[in-house]
Amino acid sequence: MVIETERLLLREFTHEDFPALFEIVSDPETMRHYPQPFDENRTKDWIEWNLQNYKEHGFGLWAVVLKETGEFTGDCGLTIQIIDGESLPEIGYHIHKNYWRKGFGSEAASAVRDWAFMNTEYDCLYSYMKYANIGSYSTAIAIGMRKVKEYPDEKNGISYAYAIKREEWEKLKW
Ligand SMILES: CC(C)(COP(=O)(O)OP(=O)(O)OC[C@H]1O[C@@H](n2cnc3c(N)ncnc32)[C@H](O)[C@@H]1OP(=O)(O)O)[C@@H](O)C(=O)NCCC(=O)NCCS
Repeated sequence: MVIETERLLLREFTHEDFPALFEIVSDPETMRHYPQPFDENRTKDWIEWNLQNYKEHGFGLWAVVLKETGEFTGDCGLTIQIIDGESLPEIGYHIHKNYWRKGFGSEAASAVRDWAFMNTEYDCLYSYMKYANIGSYSTAIAIGMRKVKEYPDEKNGISYAYAIKREEWEKLKW
């Protein structure tokens, strides 16, 4: 287990998470801001990529589990992403649509933000998304990020980058 919040546990993925993760990332509504929903192979690769990230960086996307029921409700964590040509630390999130708009995305993402500032040397954390992904950028805003970039992107047409600096986070927290 990596992080505990009021309602959630964030822990490393295992191969046993495949069916629960696949239910989320294969859903067309959940993945409507992606080129396409994930198929089985893409989902398996997603788990493998994160297992590799834990080894390589000590972080990755983690499984988000409801404390009360033990239910797998999504993923949230830190990965290195190419944002407008730069490799940057990014907070990412996917929550099962049955649980949207209940504060779980921002609860998980703010815990990841705190973890990252406390356990890594990064001085700025990012989230990036397709311009139309209002749920995603609203979550970035909810954890104290502000828009720092808008740029043309092959995958998204236009991408937005949101960010929070360490000094902004320090003011936010203490
Ligand atoms: C983005 C996502 C993880 C947000 O999860 P969530 O649990 O619904 O988020 P929260 O309930 O914590 O909401 C965070 C903020 O975003 C707002 N929000 C969330 N979804 C929204 C939507 N569809 N439209 C408008 N605002 C939205 C909430 O109102 C809240 O704002 P507030 O703090 O001002 O109240 C979820 O929508 C999701 O899984 N989307 C599909 C996957 C995806 O696109 N991930 C991002 C890839 S870049």
